[in-house]
Amino acid sequence: MSIAATTSWDSSVLPERQERFIAQKARDGAEFLAALGMTVLCGGPMPKLTIAIDGPAGSGKSTVARRVAQMLGYLYLDSGAMYRALALKALRQQVTLDNEGALEELARGTHIELKSPTPEQEAAGAKNRVFLDGEEVTPEIRTAEVAQAASRLAAIAGVRKVLVAEQQRAGAGGGIVMEGRDIGTVVFPNAELKIFLDASPEVRAERRWKEHQEKGEAMALAQVVEEVRERDRRDRERKVSPLVRATDAVLVDNTAMDAEEIARLIVMLGREREKELANATGRKT
Ligand code: DC
Repeated sequence: MSIAATTSWDSSVLPERQERFIAQKARDGAEFLAALGMTVLCGGPMPKLTIAIDGPAGSGKSTVARRVAQMLGYLYLDSGAMYRALALKALRQQVTLDNEGALEELARGTHIELKSPTPEQEAAGAKNRVFLDGEEVTPEIRTAEVAQAASRLAAIAGVRKVLVAEQQRAGAGGGIVMEGRDIGTVVFPNAELKIFLDASPEVRAERRWKEHQEKGEAMALAQVVEEVRERDRRDRERKVSPLVRATDAVLVDNTAMDAEEIARLIVMLGREREKELANATGRKT
């Protein structure tokens, strides 16, 4: 398995007013200290964090994680897209989803690339572009069939080992927001900021149902509720790396808040962590 993740943010999307506000505050602070006869020492760039966002299906992780990465200028990696892409390959090659050896072998020989979506894809709800062995499979991996297959294949220890190693390699330098089920517990247990995003099963199922509707896929709400329940159960009850909240993760309930509010909250927590780390490593501001 190899993966390549690139996310190039258009700098014009960064909240310009926020940047100006921060720059002004820095100037105000420097002037205040100068008036007291003190100097300001800036010891290089702020440390770049690893931010882990975990949660069940439909909790809004992708929207929030992508937005957080955008606001911080970090790399964004959707680990679920990797399990989905591999599941699609297994379905296409008719590898049965209980053939552990064959699936691990398949994982080892797969190249997955994650890129930013085009504006058209973004307007259609895509959070990233996914390439499987060079072929774009962005819409193909979002079907209910692939979601269930991904959840089954993700219960196999050998498959997880291969994917987790790639995720760790991709995030090794920090400055990344990675979303999934086991990011804060297994992939990056030392992540500087961990979020567990949750919402009621009804709200999560309704969100998924709306996504299917927008894509023109007719599905009864009751069917989507059942699928979300089944995936929840499998993801939470599997023996290897089940979906659990890391003890040091901040629990954020997304039932009532919207994605933008949650992203801003996480960015605020991230900025605090950056400052704490900068202070701990002796960087003076
Ligand atoms: O986030 P998602 O719904 O796209 O993920 C699809 C499946 O992949 C999910 O049901 C469980 C699995 N998965 C996982 O086991 N571990 C991850 N870190 C991400 C996804």
